[in-house]
Amino acid sequence: VDVRRNIYNLTPAAVTQLTSALNTLKSNGTYDMFIHRHHDAMMHASLMTNETGTLRNSAHRGPAFGPWHRWYLRDLELQLQTVTPGLTLPYWSWSADAALASPTAAPLWSASYIGGDGAGPNDLVPNGPFKNWMALVMTPSMTLVPRAVPGIIRRLGRDAQGAPTLPRALDVTNSFSESAYDSAPWSESQTSAPSFRNRLEGWLLRPGDQTPNGRMHNRVHLWVGGDMLPGTSPNDPVFFLHHANVDRLWAQWQATHPTVPYAPAAGGPPGHNLNDGMFDLGVPGITPASTLDHHCMGYMYDDESPGQSADACPPNAVMTVSPGQLAQISTCFTNTGTTSWIKGTAGQVNLGQVCPQAAIAAWNSNWLSPTTYASTTQAVVAPGQTAFFLFSIVPPVGTAPGQYVIEGDLIAASTGRPLTAPTFKQIVNVQ
Ligand code: CU
Ligand code: CU
Repeated sequence: VDVRRNIYNLTPAAVTQLTSALNTLKSNGTYDMFIHRHHDAMMHASLMTNETGTLRNSAHRGPAFGPWHRWYLRDLELQLQTVTPGLTLPYWSWSADAALASPTAAPLWSASYIGGDGAGPNDLVPNGPFKNWMALVMTPSMTLVPRAVPGIIRRLGRDAQGAPTLPRALDVTNSFSESAYDSAPWSESQTSAPSFRNRLEGWLLRPGDQTPNGRMHNRVHLWVGGDMLPGTSPNDPVFFLHHANVDRLWAQWQATHPTVPYAPAAGGPPGHNLNDGMFDLGVPGITPASTLDHHCMGYMYDDESPGQSADACPPNAVMTVSPGQLAQISTCFTNTGTTSWIKGTAGQVNLGQVCPQAAIAAWNSNWLSPTTYASTTQAVVAPGQTAFFLFSIVPPVGTAPGQYVIEGDLIAASTGRPLTAPTFKQIVNVQ
């Protein structure tokens, strides 16, 4: 799985890789497409029959807030990977910066990260990798055009329409007490029934939450101010660092509420039910259901499996097999974590599919389970040691000739959660 890291855990070189890839997408028009989609989502009302009094749209003020942004971020991340393979979106843990004496002086707001607070008469970001970006702004006829003056507008903690402080760690902790993902009437206005979505998005105020103005996700837009306020907020790339953190918090809430389902399953606003196609993502038919397992979407966060990480050995050569023929696959990973992998205990680590691979399900040849290839060949793999994995495949007779990819991730047997490690890929040509 791809690993999304805290931006402050990236090396300076990795930050530069990210900002250069963003610049490539900005200059080839891809990035602007994402601004358009977010703006379109914002302008696209999603009302239930006879409903009034909500500004719910395709992506906000409703249940799809989590899924829509999750898909949208992964889409951008995959675009970044076409520029630089393996690149992932880092997250900005804004509640950590909230604890600083001066959050506006945090490293993020420097030329070597994403540039500083706006300055001059127009509050334009004066430095950094996005200094001359052309922002897209809405005309009175609600189309988007490049702003006359190049540059991104920021007013950290000082926008007249904004909020003076960031959400605190306490606001985050408190939000985890919400016991449902969302509740009727599936909007910004519900304030009694539990709704993690509405709390995380920032409309739902509970006793002890920070005031005035927005909370949680909304409050971060308000604190950055300027171009982060309207529906074109992806104009400022901090949008993606912010939303990666919002997505991380949703993933954490999901992990701590494993039996609580996405809601509504049905009967809610269009584009927001479990199996509805969401709107304005650039691809039709992406459902909330398809976003609920972010590991299955191919990524994880660097704090999900503390102490459990690994580096992959060099990739194997392409294999060629015939249908009905048994072939063995071996690979290895170095345990770079702090705990030993011990077979037959809670510390057992397996190589398996973090997302079931339908195309090769029938190739199972004595795997540990239909989605688990093997455990370590050794009984114990201490930190620093290399673990070997060995398993067999048999493409069934009748398998169409062509290229297949067998993917495997290291998975903690006791929890089913992936380790912080790259994905193993074996390319198999069936002839
Ligand atoms: Cu949004
Ligand atoms: Cu947002």
